[in-house]
Amino acid sequence: MAQNEYFCGLIRLIMLRTTTCGALTINNLGENVILCGWVQKSRDLGGMTFIDIRDRYGITQLVFNMDDNTDLCQTARSLGREFVIKASGIVVERSNKNPKMPTGDIEIKITGMEILNSSKIPPFMIDDETDGGDDLRMKYRYLDLRRNPVRNNMVLRHRMAQSVRRYLDGLDFIEVETPVLIKSTPEGARDFVVPSRMNAGEFYALPQSPQTFKQLLMVSGFDRYFQIVKCFRDEDLRADRQPEFTQIDCEMSFVEQEDILNTFEGLIRTLFKEVKHFDLPEVPRMQYADAMRWYGSDKPDTRFEMRFTELNEQVKGHNFPVFDQAELILGISAKGCAHYTRKQMDELTDFVKRPQIGATGLIYARHQEDGSIKSSVDKFYSEEVLKTWAEALGSQPGDLLLLMAGTTDKVRKQMSELRLEMGTRLGLRQKDVFSALWVLDFPLLEWDEETERFHAMHHPFTSPKPEDIALLDTDPGAVRANAYDMVVNGTEIGGGSIRIHDRSLQALMFKHLGFSTEEAQKQFGFLMDAFEFGAPPHGGIAFGFDRLCSIFAELDSIRDVIAFPKNNSGRDVMIDSPSTIDDKQLKELKIASTL
Ligand code: AMO
Repeated sequence: MAQNEYFCGLIRLIMLRTTTCGALTINNLGENVILCGWVQKSRDLGGMTFIDIRDRYGITQLVFNMDDNTDLCQTARSLGREFVIKASGIVVERSNKNPKMPTGDIEIKITGMEILNSSKIPPFMIDDETDGGDDLRMKYRYLDLRRNPVRNNMVLRHRMAQSVRRYLDGLDFIEVETPVLIKSTPEGARDFVVPSRMNAGEFYALPQSPQTFKQLLMVSGFDRYFQIVKCFRDEDLRADRQPEFTQIDCEMSFVEQEDILNTFEGLIRTLFKEVKHFDLPEVPRMQYADAMRWYGSDKPDTRFEMRFTELNEQVKGHNFPVFDQAELILGISAKGCAHYTRKQMDELTDFVKRPQIGATGLIYARHQEDGSIKSSVDKFYSEEVLKTWAEALGSQPGDLLLLMAGTTDKVRKQMSELRLEMGTRLGLRQKDVFSALWVLDFPLLEWDEETERFHAMHHPFTSPKPEDIALLDTDPGAVRANAYDMVVNGTEIGGGSIRIHDRSLQALMFKHLGFSTEEAQKQFGFLMDAFEFGAPPHGGIAFGFDRLCSIFAELDSIRDVIAFPKNNSGRDVMIDSPSTIDDKQLKELKIASTL
């Protein structure tokens, strides 16, 4: 007997049950079984009482017969929803079969039952479709997790984590845990901090990512590292952001960008294959500059085309001031939308004028079925000119041309929102369709208006493209980085870069980011010192595991794939956190009470 089986045998002996509530079929007729689980529902038909018992594997019908055992039947009648019971009996064929349930051909004729625990009436139905609102379900998340759709998300997440580990282990990656109490890593968000009792007045920071540690592991010669790891960022929350989230964090030595792209494209394709049974095609690659030009976004949703066309040439010089004065005029063609009513056009105009988008207006032209074109600015543009718009946009009769104008960055962003809205309206963004993309060659630096200085677009450890290093002094904004993101369905699911592994280049980067030599040494001296002890060339990537799981689960929010998520205010309403701490604790930590 294999050792595993031997231990499993031992474990089975001490279990309360012989099988689960999702396992029994017609093949088990006549077997004596013991089941444990929660009461899903009960029906009392006078002489007979039926109880549906549920565990994580499924539901099985128990039947109690008054003629066989009156006491047992009375006990069954007293059971409330979510009581925990242990029931023993014999598997029999049902007269009234339920083909929708895997156990629907059988029921258990009960000969004995024990109530293991009672339950208060749950605050919402523990059903696939529940009557519980969001807040209530979060407050009683442990009950919400009893529901199939929520539990299935956790099972999916588990499968994905196992698949990730198998793939990376197969390629000699080593899983190493890095510390959670660290000093801040400059990932761009605010840190969560933890006061140190033993070092009064000093604070740890929770890691925004294990970035510096994984680089140090490369210096240590670990060569291939990964970790499925909690990261913490104190930033504004959205559907795809939680204050604590999980990364699949990876780093490799002696590699170039191409090696990283291939290794981790392999990971994502393996996940799709093993978990979704979907053959993700080879992931196309796009330059950052092209993504911005064609989609106005560094994370374009490529489930549909609808690329932007730059129309300056076709629209300027016709005395329409909005276009004549604009830096950039962009157009998209929405398939088959020429029939949009005035009301629908007003809706679209209101959509782009919302403060979150901030456009001043929307110009449109209908490419009508007869081939003619009618625009909202006919006064300025002849049919002849409108035809040049249609030609540039490649529109067909029946399509709707949508144009916006403004400064380059703004109009790209606005058009990107409109493109997504049209994609949604046209049903082109189905959740069970998957389209992945690598976005490459991000700018190294990004100008920040508020602080009036450059920031690292990815992080300060990202290496510039060697051919662009000379531009650092003359045109820092034009320097491209060896940095890449993976995007799936318009969500950034991962990002990484080839790192700097040379002390002097790292020091130069800090200088360009506005650090004095002393500041750089104080914050990152440990890393720059390590670079002087034989740091290998290295690079890596981190995937947002929650985002990946929510895309696989075909959900809108990452909250649904996290067992105990925080709400939009960063609160855990179940345990009521964050919360105040008492004065004694504050005193110990040498923090003045705020009360
Ligand atoms: P980055 O900051 O791009 O890179 O993060 C990597 C991925 O983590 C996910 N992510 C989040 N998911 C949920 N909630 C959040 N608040 C959140 N923030 C980020 C995204 C993102 O693509 N150390 C680098 C990686 C590297 O260079 O190797 C890093 O953390 O999917």
